[in-house]
Amino acid sequence: MSVRQLLTSRSSTRGFLDKPVADEVLHQIFSDAQQSPSNCNTQPWKTHVISGEKKDALSALLVTEVMSGKPPSPDFDWTVSYQGDHRERQFGSASALYGALGIERQDKQARGAAMIKNWQFFGAPHAVFFTMEKYLNIMGAVDLGIYAQSLALLLAEQGIGCCMQGALGQFPAPVREFLSLSDSEGVLFGMSFGYPDPDAAINQAKTDRVSLDTAVNFVA
Ligand SMILES: Cc1cc2nc3c(=O)[nH]c(=O)nc-3n(C[C@H](O)[C@H](O)[C@H](O)COP(=O)(O)O)c2cc1C
Repeated sequence: MSVRQLLTSRSSTRGFLDKPVADEVLHQIFSDAQQSPSNCNTQPWKTHVISGEKKDALSALLVTEVMSGKPPSPDFDWTVSYQGDHRERQFGSASALYGALGIERQDKQARGAAMIKNWQFFGAPHAVFFTMEKYLNIMGAVDLGIYAQSLALLLAEQGIGCCMQGALGQFPAPVREFLSLSDSEGVLFGMSFGYPDPDAAINQAKTDRVSLDTAVNFVA
């Protein structure tokens, strides 16, 4: 598929088949993603790909942490409160997601249960944590975002779906311990990936995009 076809046909995947990606495919994809550009070629991403029993063990630690009622304690500043059009679009994305699952807006319990699936990696066979040196702050975050999108497109080219997850940066303590991260390394966000389950209702969630003239200012 062309990049255009990949981009226009993609959507986040949150329901997966129980079928791991072959090691050689994994290595090729992550090797190709290394070609992503970065500011001054600093390549600040550190990518932790977790599969199998290790992934299940980390998921259990994360779910325990989240369910303990502790507030999120991210390594980087994720505290934006969306306003205006951004808030409308945030509602639109939540409504696509919960609508696909048949969850009513006021059903907080069902929404909470759906939210917990973030830390179960939505049942995916693989999870990725993107970490970087904390001092890099926004400069590193730009590079990691670009890297993650390269990765997402390379995965899509192989028929592999993914969901990028800010949620995976919200409770870094278990991740830090599990991966033996140094104090200077922060968890920015993560991603779950694997072969999409075509029958999963959650994969029917589709979001829209604003029109070209709202987003792009052509100056000539
Ligand atoms: C940086 C980033 C963080 C995200 N965090 C989450 C998340 O924590 N949980 C989730 O289910 N989706 C998450 N998403 C997916 C977005 O909700 C999704 O990309 C958006 O609603 C557009 O829908 P689409 O990807 O299906 O086109 C995230 C996406 C990005 C780019």
